[in-house]
Amino acid sequence: MDFFATTTKGLEDVLADELVACGASSIEPANGGVRFSGSLRDGYRACLWLRTANRVLQPIASFACPSQEALYEGVYALHWEELLSPRMTLAVDANLRDSTITHSRFAALKTKDAIVDRIRDRSGQRPNVDPKDPDLRINLHLARNQCTISLDLAGTGLHRRGYRRDPTIAPLKETLAAGLVALTGWDRASHFVDPMCGSGSLPLEAALLASNTAPGLLSPSFGFQRWTSFDPPLWQELLDEAEQAKRELPANLIFGSDRDKRAVDLARRNAESSGIGAKIRWFYSDFAKLEPPAGQGTLICNPPYGERIGAEQELEAFYRKIGDTFKQRWTGWTAWVFTGNLALAKRIGLKPARRIVLYNGPIECRLLKFDLY
Ligand SMILES: C[S@@+](CC[C@H](N)C(=O)[O-])C[C@H]1O[C@@H](n2cnc3c(N)ncnc32)[C@H](O)[C@@H]1O
Repeated sequence: MDFFATTTKGLEDVLADELVACGASSIEPANGGVRFSGSLRDGYRACLWLRTANRVLQPIASFACPSQEALYEGVYALHWEELLSPRMTLAVDANLRDSTITHSRFAALKTKDAIVDRIRDRSGQRPNVDPKDPDLRINLHLARNQCTISLDLAGTGLHRRGYRRDPTIAPLKETLAAGLVALTGWDRASHFVDPMCGSGSLPLEAALLASNTAPGLLSPSFGFQRWTSFDPPLWQELLDEAEQAKRELPANLIFGSDRDKRAVDLARRNAESSGIGAKIRWFYSDFAKLEPPAGQGTLICNPPYGERIGAEQELEAFYRKIGDTFKQRWTGWTAWVFTGNLALAKRIGLKPARRIVLYNGPIECRLLKFDLY
């Protein structure tokens, strides 16, 4: 079977490394994702273990699509009755690029019509659409008038780790946070500190990694569990394997801190209730006053880079302070800063040893590495 795992732009190589570790084959990074091949087991394993993938798609057909008629006919020709019963619900996501059809909602609607018409013509009944929580999520990718139709194994998205976060804190998407942790190359044995942890995404993803916890163990469900082809014994075997692979997280390894007490309390509660990070140590402190744990390690932060008008000067002073604090308190550490504002990043006043380009949604960001000798 062929698969395509999607990810945040800039994390394709990280995802490819994860797929190597998962035992997938024919791994081929592309723009915004990675192609790979494997069995049904590999598809399930990918959903269970991949930390940086947003979705795992299984392409089922590809055809030339120069017009809306070609789209309808190409989709109608597929054997949907083998995948979808009239009692099941469906949803269609569409991404379009450089094609005659330019509206993704229109393309999704046309695709849905073709599928529903085919099922109705075969069975006399129409399946319903459920955009939020369908039994079968279908992905339409149209690039240069070539259409690929895929089934979405993830369903509602692999970023759902089951730890609740406060949306007012601007939390990082879980899969992006996992990618940032991977890019730091943290050795999982020395300290890991996020001094501006907000709702705790980075310490929580570090904890999942260090305890070898498959992120999918925390997900409520996956799309493929509702497919007609679902293989429950195979899935149970993979879940048991993942449970056995978990390791105890050492105490005093991962630290999260923030000056916002509400954020720290929420992060602590999330970590404890989800069972992944009971051993993460949480502090309530301004970064400038935070005492580094004894020894050295990796510091990563995602400081505010706000769009709020009038905040620019305040933020410039704050980024300067970050640089000063690095120099004064964190000697010997490796520090990483993730920001979407390059002008502010310059105010840190230290020369980055590495600059990695990544996207946080549509925002072009940098992950900057500082060696604090
Ligand atoms: C963009 S949010 C971080 C979001 C976090 N990565 C997450 O996924 O939830 C920035 C955080 O920096 C914190 N912060 C701002 N100034 C700070 C300071 N001087 N010391 C410590 N934390 C600070 C804010 O309270 C906020 O929670």
